[in-house]
Amino acid sequence: MPTRAPPSDLLSIADVARELPDLLAHAARLKAARRRGRTVPSLRGKNLALIFEKPSTRTRTSFEVAMNDLGGHALYLSSKELQLGRGETIADTARVLSRYVDGIAYRAYRHTDVVELARGASVPVINALDDLEHPCQIVADLLTMHERWRGRFRGRRLAWVGDGNNVLHSLLLGAAAVGLSLTAAVPPGYEPRPDVVEAARRLAEGTGAALAFTHEPREAVRDADALYTDVWVSMGDEAERAAREAAFHGFQINDELLSRAGADAFVLHDLPAHRGEEITDSVMDGSRAAVWDQAENRLHAQKAILERLLRSRSAPRRRP
Ligand code: CP
Ligand code: NVA
Repeated sequence: MPTRAPPSDLLSIADVARELPDLLAHAARLKAARRRGRTVPSLRGKNLALIFEKPSTRTRTSFEVAMNDLGGHALYLSSKELQLGRGETIADTARVLSRYVDGIAYRAYRHTDVVELARGASVPVINALDDLEHPCQIVADLLTMHERWRGRFRGRRLAWVGDGNNVLHSLLLGAAAVGLSLTAAVPPGYEPRPDVVEAARRLAEGTGAALAFTHEPREAVRDADALYTDVWVSMGDEAERAAREAAFHGFQINDELLSRAGADAFVLHDLPAHRGEEITDSVMDGSRAAVWDQAENRLHAQKAILERLLRSRSAPRRRP
């Protein structure tokens, strides 16, 4: 890992834009070490609080197993059972938890709440998904592509088919940072936020990644090296289900759409999948699905992130 100072927090994938190549290489080493049964307890004595306002299978489990594997401990704190749910402020919660733990991962509805927690905390805060971004997911996604393309992103093109949501936001920034070109097909009215697109374009200027947008899934996937989709209805968007089902009709990765991609193209999905909506059983269970490796890679990516943010820190970074 590089000698530059670790980022204070991981609120956006842009916070680690410059060190993504090192983070991915380190995650790959941690994965190989685990397979050989040689995990080093690098976070012995460290504690990580996990605050979740929304459900989770992968993020929660990978954080807990990662901390355990690295010799540390994770505490799952459902926001409903914290005093946070009864009106204690996010800032006060941050100050108190900072006296007990070495880091806080937070899955929230609102990005502004994650920022507020980070402002109040004296320990690193990790965004475990909010309405704006899902940075930890993208480290695992890039690791999955890195493995299949032997570390070379430049000259490759990823096609996104679906919502202009939190996952696409982080993916745009992450792809731009590593030089991976991305074409996103989104339905009209579901485009990614312009400020995120602008930030991704600025990152892409330094790497040569080409970022493009269309409303036509077939145009996006033509000759692509990998396809990626996510649910039509994200957590928090449930009231819009009917409108979204209508708008996303045709934004499905199925065998016909996949046949238009490059011959070696594989399929990514952050999961959970809604089979029959954004992706078919046939693709999910087919030989071109990389989704199970991608899900496993959440664990290895999480370890690299945790080591980077927690390991070298011996004292609180600030005292609110
Ligand atoms: N991909 C992902 O974040 O999954 P969970 O919601 O299960 O954590
Ligand atoms: N976009 C999805 C991702 C789930 C991991 C959501 O926010 O619900």
